[in-house]
Amino acid sequence: MCGIVGYIGHREAYPIVLKGLKRLEYRGYDSAGIALYDGDEMKLSKTKGKVVDLEKRLESEITTNGTVGIGHTRWATHGVPNDVNSHPHYSNSGNLVIIHNGIIENYEPLRQELINRGYSFTSETDTEVLVNLIEDVKTKENVKLGKAVQIALNQTVGAYAIAVFDKNKPDEIVVARLGSPLAIGVGEEEFFIASDASPFIEYTNNAIYLEDGEMAVVRKKKGVKVRKIQDDSLVDPYVQELKMNLEQIEKGGYDHFMLKEIYEQPNAIKDTYRGRMRVEEGIIKMAGIDDHIDKFLNARRILIIACGTSWHAGLVGEYIFEDLARIPVEVEYASEFRYRNPVIYEDDVVIAISQSGETADTMAAIKLAKERGAFVFGICNVVGSSISRETHAGAYTHAGPEIGVASTKAFTTQITVLTLIALQMAKKKGVISTSDFFMHLQELERIPEKVEKALEASDHIKEVAEIYKEASNCLYLGRGFNFPVALEGALKLKEISYIHAEGYPAAEMKHGPIALIDEQMPVIVIATKKGHYEKVVSNIQEIKSRKGKIIGIVTEGDVTVKNLADHVIEIPETMESMTPLLTTIPLQLLSYYIAVMLGKNVDQPRNLAKSVTVE
Ligand code: AGP
Ligand code: GLU
Repeated sequence: MCGIVGYIGHREAYPIVLKGLKRLEYRGYDSAGIALYDGDEMKLSKTKGKVVDLEKRLESEITTNGTVGIGHTRWATHGVPNDVNSHPHYSNSGNLVIIHNGIIENYEPLRQELINRGYSFTSETDTEVLVNLIEDVKTKENVKLGKAVQIALNQTVGAYAIAVFDKNKPDEIVVARLGSPLAIGVGEEEFFIASDASPFIEYTNNAIYLEDGEMAVVRKKKGVKVRKIQDDSLVDPYVQELKMNLEQIEKGGYDHFMLKEIYEQPNAIKDTYRGRMRVEEGIIKMAGIDDHIDKFLNARRILIIACGTSWHAGLVGEYIFEDLARIPVEVEYASEFRYRNPVIYEDDVVIAISQSGETADTMAAIKLAKERGAFVFGICNVVGSSISRETHAGAYTHAGPEIGVASTKAFTTQITVLTLIALQMAKKKGVISTSDFFMHLQELERIPEKVEKALEASDHIKEVAEIYKEASNCLYLGRGFNFPVALEGALKLKEISYIHAEGYPAAEMKHGPIALIDEQMPVIVIATKKGHYEKVVSNIQEIKSRKGKIIGIVTEGDVTVKNLADHVIEIPETMESMTPLLTTIPLQLLSYYIAVMLGKNVDQPRNLAKSVTVE
């Protein structure tokens, strides 16, 4: 996620682009930059930090009232947040300049090929490779910028929303999108380019939303020409009249960031395995693991340390690692681990999980593990965050900024990374067959569409929320891989609706919690067809015989639980180890709708902070 903005028209570009970047900061904000054309040269300024830091730098650096400009607020994926890695990026000649939202998966071979052709690079980004690929095509084929972009993009694999400008052709900006959003605001002989409409809604409510696989040449006088990237065929663009206000646009039309982020999970999971999993070739490539694979293969055990939702993801990881990679795993609350004088072996591998990468307890636990000689691997969502810099190695979840305090897409993308690590370990240890390994990759690649399917139950989930929104307590039960999901579902309900909820292993009910069961106690039971299904059905019968209200999270087509429970919410069938990626979806939506119906502040619940940087 990040924000791209562009302007070409009759007004001064600088204020429009700068304000547009501020509007898009919610999409990512580790660095920012602007390039403006002053009629002769490109003036470019960029810096690590927020847009306001860029504004301070621009006061002294850029003085132009040029009417063409592009800007970018970055959410780094390749290359830490710093001045050099921030966008825009020049091509080697200095004639082209680019801004990019997304990931070019095959940037390494492309970079090597360009180096062989004499190109050099100043940044670590995939984006700088793309702008030089475009330049290389433009020079070799002697074509216009639009054609060069079209040819170059057909050599890439990955996701992008880009804007490219050629200072020798200053009356046009070329844009393209695949997998990342791009909108074109259509004014009177002026055009706006942005990741969403928030930068231009005050100037025009007429917009063209490019479809995936489309590109456009945007000219001040001649307007917008849209083509298909694949075959250069012309597309008749649909100019729609926007009815959304600014706040609605920032939330992508959703009422809350939390709901937007719940619905972003298919793309977030895809972006997280993108470039790391090649299903056809049956391989996983993760530098953070592969460069230290000996540590993982010689590990005596894996210690997972985290807090809150990240701890729940770690608990799912325990089941995944032990099932697939056959290595002992212990999952620790970082806040307990750091004070307990724990036993840590030098051949321990510690995995620290943190969405924000700033959680104080997790950071302290990492430092303790490092002092005791363990190898520490981080799974963070914020590139360049403190924890990502403290660990010996790591892998980022490319979930994009998570604004809602209640963590959702971080949870599913953390599990995605843990699954990739466990599979890579299993393969290198030779404890998984090639066919099983391949089947897991194939199924992981299907998960985004299965999450989409699980999200389709939202109307039914809203009906269930309406029935149980006044509950004082709730019990969440799950077995095996879904026991941690029961804990996570309970946490979601607690933290945004303020209803007391507890998660338990389903089998543990008879050791106490069953005393809680009565007609006032809704019990959410994760009862997917995979993993001790018959046992869970018995638990449901025990609840029913005590007049408990049962909401079953079931595999689509399930009849047994449907006949027993008061309500069932279906999810698609998947492998047992991947059920948490799907069973968590209805639990996120259930807690969201209950909290909204109770009038709670869903994105900023009381007493909570997005990142707990205090102890
Ligand atoms: C989860 O919804 C909460 N926001 C909270 O438990 C959170 O998961 C925890 O504070 C850990 O944060 P981190 O992942 O940024 O380290
Ligand atoms: N992959 C590019 C980078 O890391 C773009 C990231 C983004 O979408 O902001 O610079």
